[in-house]
Amino acid sequence: MTTQTIKGTSVLVTGASRGLGLAFVKVLAARGAEKIYAGYKNAEGLAELNNLKLANVIPVLLDVTDSNHIQLLAQQINALDIIINNAGIASACGFTADHVLETATAEMNTHYFGPLKLITTFLPLLKQAPQAGIINIASIAAISNFKAMGTYSASKAALHFMTQGLRAELAGSTIFVQGVYPGPFDTRLAAGFDGFKQSPETIANIVLDLYRERVDEVFPDEFSKTMYQTFLESPKKLTEIFSQ
Ligand SMILES: NC(=O)c1ccc[n+]([C@@H]2O[C@H](COP(=O)([O-])OP(=O)(O)OC[C@H]3O[C@@H](n4cnc5c(N)ncnc54)[C@H](OP(=O)(O)O)[C@@H]3O)[C@@H](O)[C@H]2O)c1
Repeated sequence: MTTQTIKGTSVLVTGASRGLGLAFVKVLAARGAEKIYAGYKNAEGLAELNNLKLANVIPVLLDVTDSNHIQLLAQQINALDIIINNAGIASACGFTADHVLETATAEMNTHYFGPLKLITTFLPLLKQAPQAGIINIASIAAISNFKAMGTYSASKAALHFMTQGLRAELAGSTIFVQGVYPGPFDTRLAAGFDGFKQSPETIANIVLDLYRERVDEVFPDEFSKTMYQTFLESPKKLTEIFSQ
């Protein structure tokens, strides 16, 4: 079976200034990616990336909700093999919260419309690559509504459906589409979750190992694996668990 290659590739990672995005940048560099375009939103993020002192890491200003940033980036990048849509935000917001529309809009822009704009913009370059990949970092909360973070769940479900749709539309092309559905892992975003959490480096390594093997849906930790198995056995049962 053909495997997906990292060595020698040009990769764009969104939300690369900390957490899983920063871990992807380090792991990609260690695995021989040739150019890693690492998206940051502010001066603090830029400093974090410069601190890496890695010659193949190219920090790029990229708020994924800002179309101007995406257009400017398109002028800067002339070859691309892999996009990792990783940027994310999360708040404990349900559908009856006072600020629901504001939060839901921000999450949909970050997790759905931003990645969609990026993919649309860079699809011509991905099509030119001999072997390309789109890696979308969703969440196990994309599979069934997670009551404590309802609007986050909905936006990740939108990303999940986009991932499925892209995979179907690009089947038979040279572009491999991978969806990733983690449970809580150890970053600022999951600071409120108690219990064991994998390091972002561990998650990044698992994702890229399975990218290499062309595993198209990745559940990278015990929690997400167990919850997905529950979903396969009974979707309603997972809804009940996530509603508690
Ligand atoms: N941690 C978990 O338990 C967990 C579980 C399942 C899925 N995920 C998903 O994994 C991904 C990475 O999350 P993480 O845990 O590494 O979170 P994190 O430590 O909070 O990092 C999030 C990153 O996304 C960036 N970001 C936020 N909004 C952005 C935007 N509009 N444009 C560009 N970058 C933006 C942040 O930049 P700034 O620093 O500038 O804000 C930061 O670099 C997210 O998609 C998240 O939903 C996380």
